[in-house]
Amino acid sequence: MDLFEYAYKNQKKEESINPNIEKPLWKNSQYDFVSTLEELKQIALECRKCKLCLTRKNVVFGEGNPNADLMFIGEGPGKTEDETGRPFVGLAGQLLTRIIENGLKISRENVYIANVVKCRPTVEMKGEKDRPPDEEEVNACSPYLIRQIELIKPKIIITLGNPSTRFLLNTKLGITKLRGNVYYYKDIAVVPTYHPSFVLRNGGENSLLKKDVWEDMKIVLKLMQDLRIKSYKINDK
Ligand code: URA
Ligand code: SF4
Repeated sequence: MDLFEYAYKNQKKEESINPNIEKPLWKNSQYDFVSTLEELKQIALECRKCKLCLTRKNVVFGEGNPNADLMFIGEGPGKTEDETGRPFVGLAGQLLTRIIENGLKISRENVYIANVVKCRPTVEMKGEKDRPPDEEEVNACSPYLIRQIELIKPKIIITLGNPSTRFLLNTKLGITKLRGNVYYYKDIAVVPTYHPSFVLRNGGENSLLKKDVWEDMKIVLKLMQDLRIKSYKINDK
């Protein structure tokens, strides 16, 4: 049995294949009173709930189809995202866009792309080197993400790298251990994979990591087939 078959066969038995995963978060968003993504975005644009507000240029709320079947969740905005206010538009973003459009055959506008934190985290708050968000920042920002998920109601979430995977699956396990399987957040299938920046830093397009990402996208394609999610929405350009 190859890895894909194994992961797929076990997709409903996540407890048995992942004994270390604690109970998923059932935390409610603090934004139950907000009924549209646009309203939630307007609140986030003014947000000062954590220290990242001190150094950000723009809040990067997320973008895409508000009724998307597929949602991608990264860790936090980088330099280009901070400057433009849009998620995944730098080099890592270009790789993610290729994965979505060439791999899954869906146009980027038809999925939803967001991050765990909406403002750019940098080392020592100097606005230079990116770093993953810390626990305090994730805790402060996650109510936006939880409400985004509730409003979009995706059928599949692809978590990119450790912060989003650990947050949604409520685990301290790392992405290398977790990827290759399907998990559930509430009733939404979660497929964790490597962050495109991590792939770019470790060999890029022809690396083993990229191959692993493709294996994970095959899991997504199979789920899409089973959930009858239409794939071919690429606009003729
Ligand atoms: N890395 C992320 O995690 N998110 C972005 O939006 C861009 C780079
Ligand atoms: Fe608010 Fe999130 Fe930005 Fe922190 S990262 S200021 S919680 S929007």
